[in-house]
Amino acid sequence: MSDTTVQELPPFEARAVGRGVARREGPLKVSGQAPYAFEAPADEPLFLHLVQSTVAKGTVRAVDAARALAHPGVVDILDHTSAPRLSGDDGELMVLQTPDVAFRGQVVAVVVAESAEAAREGASLVTVTYDEQEHRAQLRADDLDLYKPEKVNPSFDTDSSDGDVDQAHREATHVVDATYTTPYEHNNPLEPHAVTARWRADGEDGPLLTLDASTQQVHGVVETVGGLLGLEPEEMRVRSPYVGGGFGSKGMPKVHDVVASLVAKTHPGRTCRLAFTRQQMFALAGYRTATIQHVVLAADDTGRLLGIQHEVVEQTSAVKEFAEQTAVATRHMYAAPHRATSHRLAALDVAVPSWMRAPGEMPGMFALEVAMDELAVATGVDPIELRVLNEPAADPDTGLPFAQRRLVQCLRRGADRFGWAGRDPRPGSRLEGDWLVGTGVAAATYPAMTMPGNQAQITATDDGYLVQLGAADIGTGSSTVLAQIAADALEVPVEEVTVELGDSSLPKATVAGGSSGTSSWGTTIVATAAAFRDEHGTSPAAGASTTGSQPENPAADEHAMFSYGAQFVELRVNVWTGEPRVSRMLGVFSGGRIVNPVLARSQLIGGMTMGLGAGLLEESVRDPRFGHIVTQDLASYHVAAHADVPAIEVEWLDEVDGVINPMGSRGLGEIGIVGMAAAIANAAFHATGVRVRDLPVTADRFL
Ligand code: MOS
Repeated sequence: MSDTTVQELPPFEARAVGRGVARREGPLKVSGQAPYAFEAPADEPLFLHLVQSTVAKGTVRAVDAARALAHPGVVDILDHTSAPRLSGDDGELMVLQTPDVAFRGQVVAVVVAESAEAAREGASLVTVTYDEQEHRAQLRADDLDLYKPEKVNPSFDTDSSDGDVDQAHREATHVVDATYTTPYEHNNPLEPHAVTARWRADGEDGPLLTLDASTQQVHGVVETVGGLLGLEPEEMRVRSPYVGGGFGSKGMPKVHDVVASLVAKTHPGRTCRLAFTRQQMFALAGYRTATIQHVVLAADDTGRLLGIQHEVVEQTSAVKEFAEQTAVATRHMYAAPHRATSHRLAALDVAVPSWMRAPGEMPGMFALEVAMDELAVATGVDPIELRVLNEPAADPDTGLPFAQRRLVQCLRRGADRFGWAGRDPRPGSRLEGDWLVGTGVAAATYPAMTMPGNQAQITATDDGYLVQLGAADIGTGSSTVLAQIAADALEVPVEEVTVELGDSSLPKATVAGGSSGTSSWGTTIVATAAAFRDEHGTSPAAGASTTGSQPENPAADEHAMFSYGAQFVELRVNVWTGEPRVSRMLGVFSGGRIVNPVLARSQLIGGMTMGLGAGLLEESVRDPRFGHIVTQDLASYHVAAHADVPAIEVEWLDEVDGVINPMGSRGLGEIGIVGMAAAIANAAFHATGVRVRDLPVTADRFL
C-alpha cells in the first residue's frame, strides 16, 4: 500500500501524451519476428493435444490409451489417474484430478508427443468410456432452479431497488414492457490460447516452473496456476511479451495453462507446447452467457421516466459460477424515481462462461437502449431528445456526483456529424432501390476503472530510462502508451524511454482488463517517476533505480466514474431477401484525455466492429441434447469480416478527466462495443418497422 495519493503528484503535462506515436512492437509483429507463446524458443519440445469429453455429465469409466501410445512419436498420456495432484476448489481449473465430467468438451486426457501432428493423431486414437448421467443444458426463463447469486461480476450487488416500480407503472402514460434476448457469443482472438511450459531439470537453477503464456495478466497466472500446484510465487515465472488478442478470454488462466504445467512436471527439463484448436476454444476459452432480459420503462406523457425495471435471467456452469453483471449499467444510466434491477442464474452442465469484451454492459445496454428506442416511438419524442430529457443530475444508483458525465455532448455532436436533423421518424419511409434504409442511435457507457496494487521500476540507462512492470500488451499498444506517459512524467523525449512488460519477474501489475490497464499502470508510472526524480534528480547516473507503488485516489470514492458514447448506425434491409447490411457507423465518445489518438481510434473501431458482429452475425448455437456449442468454428460462427464493415467513423470529445488519474484518461478497450447492437436493431426498426428484440439481427426477421 502506498502512502501518497494521486492528488499529491506533480501536475502532469502532456507532451508525448496526445500524440499518435507508432506502436513500438508493430514492425516485429507484422514481419513475423515477435515470438508468441507457442513459439518460445526451445530445443526438441514436446507437443500436447487435449482429449475432450464427449458426454455432458457423468464419470470417466476408462481411458484406453493403448492405440495412441503405439502411434509413432507419442510419448505419454496423462489422465485423471496419472496426472500430478493439484489443490484448490476451482471447478474449471482442477483438471485431470477426478473421473467426474461436468460439461461436454471438458479435458479428460492429454497426449504428449514429439510432434504436433503425432499428438493430434494420438488424441484421436484414445478411447474414453463413460458412465453418462442426465444433464441440463438449456437456458429457460421459467427454469425452476434459477437462483440468486451472492454477487455479480466482479462484485456488484445482485439486485438493486429504489422506490416502487409498480407504482411507476400505475402512474405512467406510456409503458414499454418487453423481453430481449442475447445469444451465447465466443471470444475469438486471432491467436488461440497457447502456452509453452517447462519444469526445471534436476540440478538447474531458477524457478521450478516457467510458462510462456498468452495472457492478460502474468502475475495472475502465477497466483492461480502456482496456487493449484502448491508453488510459492518465486518458484514460478510467467512471460507473455506478445499476445494476439484476448477480449477477456485471456484475463484468467485457462485449463491449457494447468494441463501444460502438469505435463511439464511429469517431464522435467522438457519444453511442452500446448495450444487450443479453434474448435477447442468454443469449449475451453470462456464465452459470453446468453441472456433473457425483461425491461419495463414507465414514462409520463412527455417521455420523462418514472420507472426503470431490468430483470435478467442468464446462465452459468454448474462447475464454476460466473454471473454476468448484465443489469448493472442500467442502474447508472437514466433518472427515474422508481428503479429495480435483478439477476438470476441457471447453473447448467455446460462449459464455464467468463469475460468477453464489456461483459454485462454489452448485452445489458442492448436491452436498455432498444427499450429506450421503443419508448421514443411510443411517446413520439426523438430518441436523442428522450435520452437528454432523462439525464440524471447525479448517479441514480449511489447519489454520487459524476466525475465527467458527457453523454449529452456525445449525442449532440454525433447527431451533427451523422446528419440526424430532419430525420423522418416513420419506419419504412425510405426506400432506395431494393433497400429499405433506416438510421438508429444508442447510448454507450463503461465504468472508468483503476485497479489498485501496481508497482513499477524506473532505471536510468546510458541513453535514457528503462520502465519495467509486469503489465500486459494484448495487442492494444500498452507498451507504447506507457512509454508516452513515462516520458511526460520524467519530462524527457519519448524516444529515451524503453518499456518492458509481460514478465512476472517484473514488479507486480494488474490485469489488462476492464479497460483499466492504462489508468492503473500509468498512475503507477507517474508516481514512480516522481519518486525517481526525488531520489536521483534530473541527471541520474546510469544504473540509478527506483521502485514505486501506485498511489491511492481518495477522490475516486467520492465520484461516479464512467465513460460515455453515442453510437449511430445507418442500415439497409433488402426488400427481397431481408438481408441487413450496415452502411454507415459513427461513434462519438467521452473517454477523458486521449493518450494516443492512433491507438485510441484502433480500440474504438475495433470495439465497434465487434459490436457490428454482435448486432448482425455472432451467435453460438448450443444443442441442449448434447450440451455443447455446435457452431464451433469460424465457418459457422461468423465474426465481422472486411466486407461487413462499411464507413466507420470515430470521434472523441476534447477533454481531461480531473478525478481518475494524473493523466486524466479513461479506458477505451470496451466502450466501443457497448451500444452498437442496440443502434443496429434501432436502425433496423426505422428501416422496416420490424422491432427485433433478439440478437443477432438476421435476414429471417424481415421476411
Ligand atoms: Mo475485458 S472482457 O475486461 O478483458
